[in-house]
Amino acid sequence: MTQIITTISEMRAQVHAWRNAGECVGLVPTMGYLHEGHKSLIERSVADNDRTVVSVFVNPTQFGPNEDLESYPRDLDRDVALVTHAGADVVFHPEPEEMYFPDRSTTVHVEGLGNELCGKSRPIHFDGVCLVVSKLLNITTPDRAYFGQKDAQQLLIVRRMVRDLSIGTDIVGCPIVREPDGLAKSSRNTYLSPAERAAAVVLSRSLACGRAVVESGERSAEAVRAAIRAELATEPLAEPEYVEVVDTNTVSPVDVIAGEVLVAIAVRIGTTRLIDNFFFDPAA
Ligand code: PAF
Repeated sequence: MTQIITTISEMRAQVHAWRNAGECVGLVPTMGYLHEGHKSLIERSVADNDRTVVSVFVNPTQFGPNEDLESYPRDLDRDVALVTHAGADVVFHPEPEEMYFPDRSTTVHVEGLGNELCGKSRPIHFDGVCLVVSKLLNITTPDRAYFGQKDAQQLLIVRRMVRDLSIGTDIVGCPIVREPDGLAKSSRNTYLSPAERAAAVVLSRSLACGRAVVESGERSAEAVRAAIRAELATEPLAEPEYVEVVDTNTVSPVDVIAGEVLVAIAVRIGTTRLIDNFFFDPAA
């Protein structure tokens, strides 16, 4: 049975004991309400490391004032069962008061990479992610930490933060896990009504159109964006927030696809905001 640890001092003591026994450690940071996507990260960590910690913490600092912090789905019992089944050793589940001092005064800001895509509508989001991820890395000092490619901008920002701050953890990006019809797995999919759930398949369908354009040799970012937008327009319930082609180093939009790019979209289906993406490297 997976052990649940709620305090930073106990978490540190456990990692210390593992290290003394010569064991290596993997961390899978999550906000809980785990699904197959998280399970694939946990299984990868269990395969790569002697010990795996899964953090389950709905991080208040990455939610804006009008976002879904209060209503974000939570089910710790179910999460612990999934983590146990996937073979991890510890669920680290601190209360917000354990993680944040009321007078905390430190921010972690990665300059530039958070300006576009999700950063435009969620201005404080990535600072909150960087703060909590740097704390989780400091608490668990893992050899490797696992992040899903669905949150691609998060993955690029966390990699940059870890590089710039000389944090000794390898950041491992893992492929998007999808439903049989193509919808990327997400805890927020539970917000969708049956009609919205059916409409949500337009995200992956539109990205497939964009991928077909770029794989045919087209190098104009606008042509890729236009193909995606045209497919999104076929679904009346879909309201695109952004359709972008960005450089993977700067996360800035490109006109011409000359190096590796991230093709990313955010779409509202009803009141639910969903994201999806793919990476493309013309040299690969
Ligand atoms: O991807 C998430 O679930 C969160 O942003 C993370 C990395 C666990 C930080 O709270």
